[in-house]
Amino acid sequence: MADSRETFLVNAFVTGWPVKHSRSPLIHNYWLRQLGISGTYKAEAISEQDFPAFIQALKDGSAGYRGGNVTIPHKEMAYKLANRPDALAEELGASNTLWMEDGLLHASNTDGYGFTANLDDCHPEWDKAGRAVIFGAGGASRAVIQAIRNRGVGEIHVVNRTVSRARELADRFGPSVHAHAVEALGEVMSGAGLFINTTSLGMDGSEAPRIDFSRLRDDAVVTDIVYVPLKTPLLAQAEEQGFAIVDGLGMLLHQAVPGFEKWFGRRPLVDKVLRDLVI
Ligand code: ATR
Repeated sequence: MADSRETFLVNAFVTGWPVKHSRSPLIHNYWLRQLGISGTYKAEAISEQDFPAFIQALKDGSAGYRGGNVTIPHKEMAYKLANRPDALAEELGASNTLWMEDGLLHASNTDGYGFTANLDDCHPEWDKAGRAVIFGAGGASRAVIQAIRNRGVGEIHVVNRTVSRARELADRFGPSVHAHAVEALGEVMSGAGLFINTTSLGMDGSEAPRIDFSRLRDDAVVTDIVYVPLKTPLLAQAEEQGFAIVDGLGMLLHQAVPGFEKWFGRRPLVDKVLRDLVI
């Protein structure tokens, strides 16, 4: 008998408020076509007020979805309303990927996986960084800290404009994570093998401060989770100063992989055609 996942139409969604800017439908519909899977993936604009009812309809089957992605501002509520958050979602208190299994709503968070899978693709030796510096202390920073710590990076320095938010993360993740004010940026970069921007600085052409990367290790990798523009001002500066750079588009593409596999039963590939399509 054929796999029921391929016999019947499987539906998945991305929900956010707003959601129209989301690149996720482009990504998942590319994979559905490429793999010849009979399924749909569409954007659902759901307000915060309507989100609990949407999740209830997902749980009782009336929404007709096997699962979906969740983006701003619903990630925390998605985690709270799920029946079975996995360890990653549990630690972050937020979920971007939901799926129904055995009548229960499962939740994970694949942002960190997307981040490390992108680095694995571009610079497989990145996890020998030793010391990493993360600029920013929001939700994205949290997922990145979790992911690189789980891959064995032993010394993580979080630098943030509002230092109390960096401290909160250091308290949450334990002794390998250290908090600093922006003034300490140069000092903590000394000898680091990985620099990660998780702030929105430079997004959509906004101005970014000049950063002196010269104290990083010569073989350091500088990466940005912002992908519009692909080469952010910060990445351009790092490249000018002779460092290897990795843009943020790969993170977006890779974070989509585990969800697609859960809903549609096949593990898709992040290929060059998809990259060119999404940018
Ligand atoms: P996300 O969930 O995408 O990480 P967020 O929680 O709003 O978004 O966090 C945004 C991050 O970018 C924060 O670290 C923020 O610094 P503050 O905690 O001080 O607000 C940082 N950020 C945004 N604009 C910034 C700017 N102009 N200068 C420095 N940091 C900035």
